[in-house]
Amino acid sequence: AAQAEPYEVVVIGGGPGGYVAAIKAAQLGLKTACIEKRGSLGGTCLNVGCIPSKAMLNNSHMYHQAQHDMKRRGIEISGVSLNLPAMLAAKDNAVSSLTKGIEFLFKQNGVEYIKGAASFVSPTRLSVQLLEGGQTEVDAKSVIIATGSEVAPFPGGGIPVDEEQIVSSTGALDLQQVPEKLVVIGGGIIGLEMGSVWSRLGADVTVVEFLGAIGGAGIDGEVAKQFQRLLTKQGLKFKLNTKVTSAEKSNDGKVTLKMEAATGGKEEVIDANVVLVAVGRRPYVEGLNLEAIGVEMDNKGRIVIDSQFNTSVKNIKCIGDVTFGPMLAHKAEEEGIAAVEFIKSGHGHVNYNAIPSVVYTHPEVAWVGKTEEELKNDGVQFSVGKFNFTANSRAKTNLDTEGFVKIIAEKETDKILGVHIIGPNAGEMISEGVLAMEYGASAEDVARTSHAHPTLSEAFKEACMAAYAKPIHM
Ligand code: FAD
Ligand code: NAI
Repeated sequence: AAQAEPYEVVVIGGGPGGYVAAIKAAQLGLKTACIEKRGSLGGTCLNVGCIPSKAMLNNSHMYHQAQHDMKRRGIEISGVSLNLPAMLAAKDNAVSSLTKGIEFLFKQNGVEYIKGAASFVSPTRLSVQLLEGGQTEVDAKSVIIATGSEVAPFPGGGIPVDEEQIVSSTGALDLQQVPEKLVVIGGGIIGLEMGSVWSRLGADVTVVEFLGAIGGAGIDGEVAKQFQRLLTKQGLKFKLNTKVTSAEKSNDGKVTLKMEAATGGKEEVIDANVVLVAVGRRPYVEGLNLEAIGVEMDNKGRIVIDSQFNTSVKNIKCIGDVTFGPMLAHKAEEEGIAAVEFIKSGHGHVNYNAIPSVVYTHPEVAWVGKTEEELKNDGVQFSVGKFNFTANSRAKTNLDTEGFVKIIAEKETDKILGVHIIGPNAGEMISEGVLAMEYGASAEDVARTSHAHPTLSEAFKEACMAAYAKPIHM
């Protein structure tokens, strides 16, 4: 039997969308439970996504720096060597302390954490298969589905992931040995981040990408080109406009991959010790029993919602990777808060034009808003302001000068429509662009805002100057 008093909000899924929604609901005074079946909170992001990947990116970057970038800074070190088990342990520690932190936040805010897999019995009743064994039922006035996404398998099912030799991002975050040769299928964000990690740790990395550019959806063309040039300089190899047709384990313990031009053509064969399949993610709804209650999904398996996060079934909302939009943790979080505010007060808001994307390689790549290509397509007149980090004093002192900031502003009004950065700390710097766009700032508004000297952010200011007039230092 379910609890005597129904919960006002039950959230299914404890990822960035779900756990943030649950905390916000409790903060707004709603009786709230969050059901999570993984055994730890934080979802894909904290357990096998954002957090472990950033731990590996940061520490592999330091290792690479220690090996290749210290001498010119006047630091003589010798005998640098990799202790991979310790690096993996540091990653695991970051993950466990952060996931436990969310459990603490649940307690602090009074969110009931139900450990188990939820399934709809009716739109207001869920059955939960408890992790500790047994089953319970939970009644809810409102349900928020936040079940996230899973790795999309290679089309046709021809390349089955075993997470040891043919891996998804999850296996790629936990390789117990640096592979001699790593082939990455897919030059999107996961491919480039994980490819960078293992390349820095010593693997010979080849990225095979179907399209003519790397970086995935939404990246600016000019940035993508520079990005590829810099990663190539770091030792990654790229095969663009190429599709993998098969990957098979051979007797010598390797994997043999067959590939050809994206448009068809001569077959090429290469082998690898490890293959990373990173061709995207897909919505995850397994076991929810959505068919029984009639929740509508589109042809990509995404749960269909309206502008207030309502699904086709009354009192059931949906947020995060399992519905429309970019599959990003901060997008899921914004939606979690807005969905709960709709439940509480009927008002909530997410600005989908101002959600940043960041690739945490070195240099980092970050963007928000429109690309030049999109604006040309839409027939919008715009001006572009660019500033190279080679002309920025802080980048120079840091010996870290690769990349640029590019501001795209509407021609007539000077309103900022897009910001594209490749360079050191791009991921932190992009917030200035997001804030500017949230407030409808013009390039001149930002250019007339004092930026501390010497900082990398001055490159942002100067790019804004370049968009409406001229920069000073370039
Ligand atoms: P999820 O985080 O997927 O959480 C859903 C949760 O629901 C899961 O824990 C699942 O166990 C649970 N669940 C599912 N079904 C049920 C059920 N029936 N009952 C109970 N529980 C259920 N995004 C960024 O913004 N920045 C990054 O740097 C970044 N790096 C990434 C790196 C990698 C390698 C990957 C794979 C992803 C990365 N992402 C990143 C994407 C990010 O992880 C997702 O966008 C984010 O986790 C989505 O949050 P969510 O709450 O919608 O879903
Ligand atoms: P993605 O969509 O970013 O990239 C997949 C790439 O694979 C695309 O460039 C696509 O053209 C290519 N591709 C597809 N099929 C192919 C084939 N058969 N052969 C060769 N190439 C093929 O997806 P990815 O990298 O798997 O990441 C999934 C999601 O996770 C992303 O959408 C992103 O939102 C999220 N993520 C975010 C991160 C961040 O914010 N820093 C880090 C990692 C993941």
